[in-house]
Amino acid sequence: MKRDFIHVSDYSATELQAMLDLAVQLKKEWQAGGNPPLLKGKVLGMIFQKPSLRTRVSFDMAMRHLGGDALYLSPNEIGLGQRESIADVARVLSGYVDAIMARVFAHDHVLELAKWSTVPVINGLSDYNHPCQAMADALTIQEEFGSLKGLNVTFVGDGNNVAVSLMHICTKLGANFTIACPEGYDLPPQAVELARFFASTSGSRLRFLRDPHEAVRDAHVIYTDTWTSMGQEAEAKKREAVFPPYQVNAALVAEARPDVIVMHCLPAHRGQELTDEVADGPHSRIFPQAHNRLHAQKAILVKLLAS
Ligand code: CP
Ligand code: NVA
Repeated sequence: MKRDFIHVSDYSATELQAMLDLAVQLKKEWQAGGNPPLLKGKVLGMIFQKPSLRTRVSFDMAMRHLGGDALYLSPNEIGLGQRESIADVARVLSGYVDAIMARVFAHDHVLELAKWSTVPVINGLSDYNHPCQAMADALTIQEEFGSLKGLNVTFVGDGNNVAVSLMHICTKLGANFTIACPEGYDLPPQAVELARFFASTSGSRLRFLRDPHEAVRDAHVIYTDTWTSMGQEAEAKKREAVFPPYQVNAALVAEARPDVIVMHCLPAHRGQELTDEVADGPHSRIFPQAHNRLHAQKAILVKLLAS
């Protein structure tokens, strides 16, 4: 049976930790001179309905480092669901490539791809979640503090796709998760329901607040993301009026633990959700976090493809 990587919530805490351990090992190997060709001869088809820097380049490089290859399929080329049905794209591509990575607008589209594909499907971001980002985030937090267990992770901003995956990996791995977001920008209820269940098993504490100041008190990690995600551009003006109290700036960071780290999945809108002073300051881990996409995704690829 093929396995997909669509949500971190589909994986047990043990499996997630094993993938993180593998990511650590692959990163060490890479830094020491190179990885063994664990994916020799394998090709990843990468479907993009939206722009990308990190996801595109890190998946492509991950495949090359592991002896495989990747194929970039732009929005215009495939016309997913428009030129051709998703079910047909999935069945055709499954005969050419060994795995599919897809960045889509509607989450249902990546679910549909996975349903019809006979090769593993990896979610490279949908409007609901961003599981590959969460793996890199967990790796970054683990590198800083040793493990996620018992840490206080606070997301400040929109209850978006990145926040969903972060909440799920935190509650799977025993970190306390807090979000501070404005009314009307809450996390989806079905994602919260899942997180409550994971928290009841792992012992994580979950908090859903409006006040960013209360939310960052005692935080080990402050995480933020854009106020307007891809696909929401028509709401940008409205959002720019609502979100300024949720800016991660030096004053807010000073209210957290002295050893707090600041994270952002990038791209950052400097001067909006994150100031330059914080992004380029001593608490920031935004670039190591971006680089960890490469190592975390190698582990996902090896888990799904190496046999
Ligand atoms: N963080 C992230 O997914 O970046 P890209 O949109 O550049 O892939
Ligand atoms: N929430 C952002 C993340 C980009 C990596 C978006 O969906 O546009």
